[in-house]
Amino acid sequence: MANIVKLLFILFLSFFISTSSRIITPSSSSSSSSSSSPSSVLSNLTYIPGPIQSNGKNYTRVCDPERFADMGLNMKDFAYCDKSLPYSVRIKDLIGRMTVKEKILNLGDRAPGSGRVGLQNYNWWTEALHGISDVGHATYFGDIINSATVFPTPILTVSTFDPALWRQIGHTVSIEGRAMYNLGHAGLTVWSPNINIVRDPRWGRALETPGEDPLAVSVYAVNYVRGLQDVEGFEVVKDPNTRPLSLSACCKHYTAYDVDQWYHEMYNRKEFDARTMERDMVETFNRPFESCVREGDGSSIMCSYNKINGVPVCANPRLMSQTFRGEWDLHGYIVSDCDSVQVMTENHKWLHDSPVDAIAQSLSAGLDLDCGCCGESDNYFQNFGESAIQQGRIREKDLDNALTNLYTVLMRVGFFDGNPLFDKLGLNDICSKEHIELSAKAAREGIVLLKNNDNNVLPLDTSKFKKIALIGPLANATEPMRGNYAGVPCKYITPIDGFNASNVQVDYQQGCADVGCQNISDLNSVLESVKNADATVLFFGNDLSIEREEFDRDGLKLPGEQEKLITKAAEAAKGPVILVLMSGGGLDVSFAEKHPKIGAILWAGYPGEQGGHAIADIVFGKYNPGGRLPLTWYHDDYVKQLPMTSLQLRPNKEFGYPGRTYRFFDGPVVYPFGHGLSYTQYKYTVKPKLSSINVGLEKHHKCKDLSLKSNANVISECPSALIDDLKCEETISFSVEVANVGKMDGDHTVMVYSKPPEFVDDAPIKQLIGFQKVFVPAGKKKVVKFDINACKALTLVEKTAYKVLAEGQHTIVIGFGDDAVSFPFEVVFKK
Ligand SMILES: *[C@@H]1O[C@H](CO)[C@@H](O)[C@H](O)[C@H]1NC(C)=O
Ligand SMILES: *[C@@H]1O[C@H](CO)[C@@H](O)[C@H](O)[C@H]1NC(C)=O
Ligand SMILES: *[C@@H]1O[C@H](CO)[C@@H](O)[C@H](O)[C@H]1NC(C)=O
Ligand SMILES: *[C@@H]1O[C@H](CO)[C@@H](O)[C@H](O)[C@H]1NC(C)=O
Ligand SMILES: *[C@@H]1O[C@H](CO)[C@@H](O)[C@H](O)[C@H]1NC(C)=O
Repeated sequence: MANIVKLLFILFLSFFISTSSRIITPSSSSSSSSSSSPSSVLSNLTYIPGPIQSNGKNYTRVCDPERFADMGLNMKDFAYCDKSLPYSVRIKDLIGRMTVKEKILNLGDRAPGSGRVGLQNYNWWTEALHGISDVGHATYFGDIINSATVFPTPILTVSTFDPALWRQIGHTVSIEGRAMYNLGHAGLTVWSPNINIVRDPRWGRALETPGEDPLAVSVYAVNYVRGLQDVEGFEVVKDPNTRPLSLSACCKHYTAYDVDQWYHEMYNRKEFDARTMERDMVETFNRPFESCVREGDGSSIMCSYNKINGVPVCANPRLMSQTFRGEWDLHGYIVSDCDSVQVMTENHKWLHDSPVDAIAQSLSAGLDLDCGCCGESDNYFQNFGESAIQQGRIREKDLDNALTNLYTVLMRVGFFDGNPLFDKLGLNDICSKEHIELSAKAAREGIVLLKNNDNNVLPLDTSKFKKIALIGPLANATEPMRGNYAGVPCKYITPIDGFNASNVQVDYQQGCADVGCQNISDLNSVLESVKNADATVLFFGNDLSIEREEFDRDGLKLPGEQEKLITKAAEAAKGPVILVLMSGGGLDVSFAEKHPKIGAILWAGYPGEQGGHAIADIVFGKYNPGGRLPLTWYHDDYVKQLPMTSLQLRPNKEFGYPGRTYRFFDGPVVYPFGHGLSYTQYKYTVKPKLSSINVGLEKHHKCKDLSLKSNANVISECPSALIDDLKCEETISFSVEVANVGKMDGDHTVMVYSKPPEFVDDAPIKQLIGFQKVFVPAGKKKVVKFDINACKALTLVEKTAYKVLAEGQHTIVIGFGDDAVSFPFEVVFKK
């Protein structure tokens, strides 16, 4: 018996080996595919940047009959170029022509295509976080195109709380991207935006993100992605897999990713294991990704470097295929963060994986494309994919599935057929006057007025303040204004340029050699300058030497001697003193908030190429600031109370763990989420349409327990019901009359929060449920209407990660602080 089993096994093995070697011998190609070493596999892969080229001619699409003719081929022989056929059939035809080796090589981001079948190489990696960037393999500046419009980094753009503007920026970036593509300088698939929630204020990448609030981040994601992707008239179509795209955007980095390199390099993203609870995943970390895919129809997702609860994200089928493709119905492809697959074996050393193991696991978890970061020959899929096939660890069909996802997106974005709407775009569509003005507008609208003593230090009147001292390492900032993942700007307007163009005399003193400010240089010149000026504007804060990718902060104070220099300059100054801060993350500037000589504070994020222009417009009152903080600005001692590596958002009083973000931390802060002053004042009058809803529960509806406060005297039989069971058709409808009772016109964001019933324990203190931006002229009123789905607005995520609607009296709050207006909103269950 045992011998028979052995024999069968050997038979099976030999059959298997011969079959697999047959599979990998391409019948139509003479090149041998056997056991090539990793470097030789890639020797033919050198990517030639440039437009689709054949015989020195440039084309904007693969399926151009002339291009095929140039290559000695007849396009009519290739069904994948037959536009009368559905995408799915064309793609099947294309993939059917490819050898196994070709399939594998085309699963790397520098995809060689297949000249044999007329398929051009394609470089997947373009970045467009806030303008087309030259980070990545596909994009470069120089020769024909020297620059592209650089918008503020997202953390400042999101401060505008203006979804229409977010979409417009996305659209503008897509126009510049298409123009650059036509000229051979960019790809059509961009790996932007970064929509990770900022959980910890030390995170080095806060500048790239839309902040800490799940709703704000989600709305930003949807609008920026729609701006990048949508082609007018094709926002919604019957078959999403054929919806044309302007560019293809990517929702990244999925998920629970916000540790880069912290604590003397002890923790880094390539080894970090994010220990999270499902409740936090549902309530916080995954919300932007769900919106990005479901509402934004984002055509790609990137999995992050980190592990989650022991498993690398890029190898987790539950997080990837099951969630994106299953639950969220992704129409697009899944890409690894660059080298994520390699990181599984070399950094995480997960399950002692060999490269082949890692490929097999990530491919079967749903990964479609492997980005290899740096070297020419470091792409795991390309290097080891063939061995994975030979060893029988993956099916050829897995390759076909991944390629189908990839080519569907390339068809939609016009790589094969072009798109008449975009094919004529060129140099004149990059760095146009309108685009540069849009960048200035985003910076103006985003800049946040944090402090303004007696409401009257700012704005400065240029007829009274003629001589201005501009002090600090950022007063002449160029590169710091563009942040990271940026391109080469059309033209910088530095703060000095901006002030100098405002009809005032400027006197500039750097104060410290750089933002690190280890030494105060030439203090006397600084003091002399501020004593002789009518007003002083101090430019301090961070740059990429302090916070960036792979570099988290240890504390929240201003770097080096900045605080000392600011205080000395302020105390010596003759006229009013204004502090302008550049940073991505929050800063503990409580010394400046308290200092009576520092009359006003502005936060300018990293304001992009027009930063100086926008700052001067605000200082001199050409624009009335209306930006609001998208992050809580904590005190420095907050970060001493919790390690950056704890993922939990809720406080734990017993362990002295303070909780994270405005939704769970109720201690003192420097400036709260949503903070932002104006040169005018607004008053709200709120008129709710309804102050309660009856929610019908059927017999089959199950009630769910909630954690109740110990002093809760309401013991309902049915504290809450599962949202998924409810129809959820009710809305919370109300109008807010916004009266501008000051002397200046202004853009104002109305922010609406919900608070759960008093007796619910363990719930967010409050959560943002809606916001709208409105322009209100001085002395006038505007009415803003809200119709917010009641389930969405009042959702709580209970302990076991169900989304529930709680019975009882919720509160709807409009605005906050002294100016807040609220009304109760009762949820009553009817059995
Ligand atoms: C790969 O490159 C080598 C030399 O660099 C060349 O001889 C060979 O023909 C190329 N193979 C293909 C398939 O292009
Ligand atoms: C094609 O594009 C390349 C690279 O952008 C450029 O150098 C070349 O002049 C173009 N050729 C033609 C014929 O336009
Ligand atoms: C500002 O910096 C630029 C270089 O980025 C330099 O050329 C210029 O002279 C500086 N301006 C002043 C007033 O120092
Ligand atoms: C200010 O502008 C004037 C006129 O454009 C120019 O001559 C001067 O150099 C500028 N000053 C600085 C500090 O940039
Ligand atoms: C800072 O100043 C100290 C003392 O004046 C000097 O020794 C040191 O080299 C300076 N450091 C830098 C970075 O300039």
